[in-house]
Amino acid sequence: MEALCMGRTLVVATDLWRSFQRERGVVTAVRGCSFRIHAGETIAIMGPSGCGKTTLLNLIAGLDVPSSGHVEWPALGATDTLRPKRIGVVFQSANLMPALTAVENVELPILLGNGAESRIRALAALSAFGVETQASKLPEQLSGGQAERIAVARAIVTDPELIVADEPTGQLDQAGAMALVDQLLAWGRGAETAIVVATHDERVAAKMNCIWRMRHGKVESMVGRSACTGIG
Ligand SMILES: Nc1ncnc2c1ncn2[C@@H]1O[C@H](COP(=O)(O)OP(=O)(O)OP(=O)(O)O)[C@@H](O)[C@H]1O
Ligand SMILES: [Mg+2]
Repeated sequence: MEALCMGRTLVVATDLWRSFQRERGVVTAVRGCSFRIHAGETIAIMGPSGCGKTTLLNLIAGLDVPSSGHVEWPALGATDTLRPKRIGVVFQSANLMPALTAVENVELPILLGNGAESRIRALAALSAFGVETQASKLPEQLSGGQAERIAVARAIVTDPELIVADEPTGQLDQAGAMALVDQLLAWGRGAETAIVVATHDERVAAKMNCIWRMRHGKVESMVGRSACTGIG
């Protein structure tokens, strides 16, 4: 397979475990995962429902903390005790703020940062994903697929170095899913961004450099041009 030139190390995960206490006992969603993610890598995480994809993505994005093990983001200026910035997140259900219009949703991450030219940048991001005509609609007025496109626009609008997207195409038909992934990859290549996508869609996964297959909380295989991300 074609060798991938490794960029800077964005994520170093070492022996990550994540358990949840539930009424009937403990559920362990992630079991001893170790890996590195480099700039420019594109990774699909696949596996059956409940195998731990969302839990692992949340740890990669710094939205959750591991029960044991640790994550660091060396190129993003963060450690496991300092929440990383520069990561764009697409949540499993688009998770748009219901009281804000589409363009306001996309503008929000800019306003939480330096705020410069927020409306212009938000409209450009909507346009990059083909939903500029939906800019003034509220989330309740959008189709599931439109909402997903807007959620991706919101994740990329601050030019993050790492995008973590949890089933970003689940509401789209095959052609729409392929188009969205192509647009995301085209945007990412320009920015040398790393992209990690959880998906049940083999055709979406095939567009990534590397496919990680999860089962019962473990990454059982890493196959592709950047398979050397695994460190145990
Ligand atoms: N906050 C939580 N509290 C309790 N259990 C949880 C929590 N989050 C996840 N789990 C459990 O951890 C396991 C893994 O869940 P996770 O959402 O990571 O799976 P997934 O691979 O993303 O599934 P899907 O493909 O359906 O999205 C499941 O058994 C789930 O019920
Ligand atoms: Mg999930």
